[in-house]
Amino acid sequence: MPFDSPDLRAVAASLRELPPPDAAASAHSAELVALIRAAVDEAGGVIGFDRFMQLALYAPGLGYYSAGSRKFGESGDFVTAPELSPLFSRCVARQCEQVLRRLDGGELLEFGAGSGAMAADILLELERRDALPQRYLILEVSADLRQRQQQTLQQRAPQLAARAVWLERPPVEFSGVVLANEVLDAMPVHRLRVHDGALRELGVCWREEGFAWRVLDTATPAAVERLQQIMAQSPLPEGYETEVNLAAEGWVRGLAGWLRRGMALLFDYGFPQREFYHPQRGGGTLMCHYRHRAHPDPLILAGLQDITAHVDFTAVAEAALAAGLGVAGFANQANFLLGSGLLELADAGGDTRAQLEAAAQMKRLLLPGEMGELFKVLALTRGVAGPWNGFAVRDDRGRL
Ligand SMILES: C[S@@+](CC[C@H](N)C(=O)[O-])C[C@H]1O[C@@H](n2cnc3c(N)ncnc32)[C@H](O)[C@@H]1O
Repeated sequence: MPFDSPDLRAVAASLRELPPPDAAASAHSAELVALIRAAVDEAGGVIGFDRFMQLALYAPGLGYYSAGSRKFGESGDFVTAPELSPLFSRCVARQCEQVLRRLDGGELLEFGAGSGAMAADILLELERRDALPQRYLILEVSADLRQRQQQTLQQRAPQLAARAVWLERPPVEFSGVVLANEVLDAMPVHRLRVHDGALRELGVCWREEGFAWRVLDTATPAAVERLQQIMAQSPLPEGYETEVNLAAEGWVRGLAGWLRRGMALLFDYGFPQREFYHPQRGGGTLMCHYRHRAHPDPLILAGLQDITAHVDFTAVAEAALAAGLGVAGFANQANFLLGSGLLELADAGGDTRAQLEAAAQMKRLLLPGEMGELFKVLALTRGVAGPWNGFAVRDDRGRL
């Protein structure tokens, strides 16, 4: 049952403004399109959006995160907080230090380490503070990014690079701090629609010259059940479209299986459930990033653009609690950074140029219209007790 999204005109307008890919990028994208089309054909003409997103981002050698485009930074598609300023990672390092000291040891483990900027800046800050862990573990699904992380560490912190160890899979047991910045938002989501009062799942088919949305005959029971629970609290209007991130919940259950003692700090953009599934957010939260332009159409530019969905932090916290972890803090990025000592770190002494640079970076990290309010941090713990500096300015657990 094909249908046209009401946002199509807006999408078409924003697409006209997207810079066209060059010949090499177009050829790369065409290869990935062929691979996804083969998956669609094999599945009888339609695949779930979660499968589409999985292939578009992670198909080996071709997906956005698995292939060699720049992605992060000015020459890429988007800028994350660790790329924007070392101040972000230095604050995170201070929260890590507090946990490691209370544990009397432990290691760090970063998921999806991007360019490696956060790993380098955290290790450098912990070195300054005489609080280095024995190892900084990284679990990266992209072989291409793993190489880039190795280069960044060699260039920025050569004396510490040997502490970085790349894992193929999560450890069996771990004590220390787990870090994930903008990782949950990059996990494949199910897309659902309220249709004639019932919930239908949206999939992706091929129509004429491109991918198109199509309602699936059968929806994923766990995704429908999750949204039904939410609708029991607050009904959603006809035509409402949204996402359910079962992968993030599964990831948290996995974490609970191997985190013996310590904290997981999950940074991402998103909301508590009541805000995420607000009746007025009827178009969902899918967002794509291509050469510093944000637009809502995930079905174009396969392999050349990032695809994200905001995070429902209540669902993540509930999955953690059900799996036996504690929820130790929830704050927006601005409050977390201020609690972790941002103002002190940004004080560049008498160096006017450095002061100006730090002020500009702080603005982007802190202001509500930039990253300060939309970005949140959720702390999950086991076997270690607060209070924690990062949540001393404000702890919003009550809003989850
Ligand atoms: C938006 S990027 C963020 C990169 C980096 N953390 C930063 O802040 O610049 C998302 C990252 O998450 C990684 N990722 C997604 N799912 C993952 C998973 N299940 N395990 C590990 N990494 C994952 C991707 O490969 C990618 O490196």
